[in-house]
Amino acid sequence: MRTAQITRFGDWRAVQVAETTVPAAAAGEVLVRVSASSLNAVDAAHRAGQLAVLTGRRLPQGLGIDVVGTVDGVGADVRGLEVGDRVWGIRAGAFSMKNARGMTAEYAAVDARHVARAPESLDDVQAAALVVGGYTSLRALRDVARVQPGERVLVRGGTGGVGSAAVQIAAALGGRVAVLASARGEELARSLGAHEFFDYATTAPASVGFADVILDTVGTDLLAWRRVLSPGGRMVGVAFDSLAGLATIAASSVFGRGRIRTFAGEPPAGYLNGLTSFVDTHSIRALVHETFPLERVQDAHRAFTAPGLRGKIVVTTAP
Ligand SMILES: NC(=O)c1ccc[n+]([C@@H]2O[C@H](COP(=O)([O-])OP(=O)(O)OC[C@H]3O[C@@H](n4cnc5c(N)ncnc54)[C@H](OP(=O)(O)O)[C@@H]3O)[C@@H](O)[C@H]2O)c1
Repeated sequence: MRTAQITRFGDWRAVQVAETTVPAAAAGEVLVRVSASSLNAVDAAHRAGQLAVLTGRRLPQGLGIDVVGTVDGVGADVRGLEVGDRVWGIRAGAFSMKNARGMTAEYAAVDARHVARAPESLDDVQAAALVVGGYTSLRALRDVARVQPGERVLVRGGTGGVGSAAVQIAAALGGRVAVLASARGEELARSLGAHEFFDYATTAPASVGFADVILDTVGTDLLAWRRVLSPGGRMVGVAFDSLAGLATIAASSVFGRGRIRTFAGEPPAGYLNGLTSFVDTHSIRALVHETFPLERVQDAHRAFTAPGLRGKIVVTTAP
């Protein structure tokens, strides 16, 4: 089978398509015949070697942390999934990236706890574009911040892969949604359900007004934004692209008003089942910027790093 791989760390040119054997589903895993897999910020960091402390430096390593496809094999001890099921899934944790197998491939063996039937309301490309952002946003807004109807929810980066799902999910939870993004994203943000829009190039935190919940997908200026939390407000930060951002999140629990909450890595076991029903019930849609076939995965990685991205890059695998 064909799989996207790196044999060195580097920019988009480091990504190659390699021939390898079809994996077997080990106990607790399902083998998925992949139809689509999206690019996430973590893939770019992985490819560039920025996660080497977690993934190790032994190469080749596979790329891709999300998957949509059809169950082709079921390992021992797997309940509730059968050959032929149309599923989506997320690969568990950065430590699992240290092998040659990723999900941007023709087949992927996936921990069944992080696989669920895919939403009927989305096609495979849309489902691949939504799974990570949808999971991240649902967990951040519903489970961590516990958004209540009528609360004002500020989404920083509300037109990105995570943010575009977050805006819809915040609105579905009954929130009054304010989006901070670049000016050209206003129409899009409003079409996703935003009630208010602020251009981040011209908006200072103090001018936005109080928010009950802030979801930060950007990772900068976290303490300045925390100051706009209303009493009892909750802030969740999910971007760790800068060490400063990570340090701020860690430090927020020991000083100032309001710990910035966060989480990373794999979804809790079974979580994606709930995401599937939430997406179908609330007609959450995905934002797809561009689709590339697996043989053009290099171009997909180049497009991912180009300016002006509006939603997700998805890599498709021909049946
Ligand atoms: N913790 C987790 O489990 C988890 C899961 C998934 C993703 N993440 C992280 O979440 C972050 C976002 O991922 P993503 O896929 O949504 O990225 P993305 O698609 O690139 O979206 C980022 C968005 O932020 C906007 N933006 C940039 N600078 C901004 C600023 N100063 N103020 C407000 N908005 C700004 C961008 O708008 P313009 O392009 O218009 O500038 C873009 O819409 C990444 O750091 C990723 O690693 C974490």
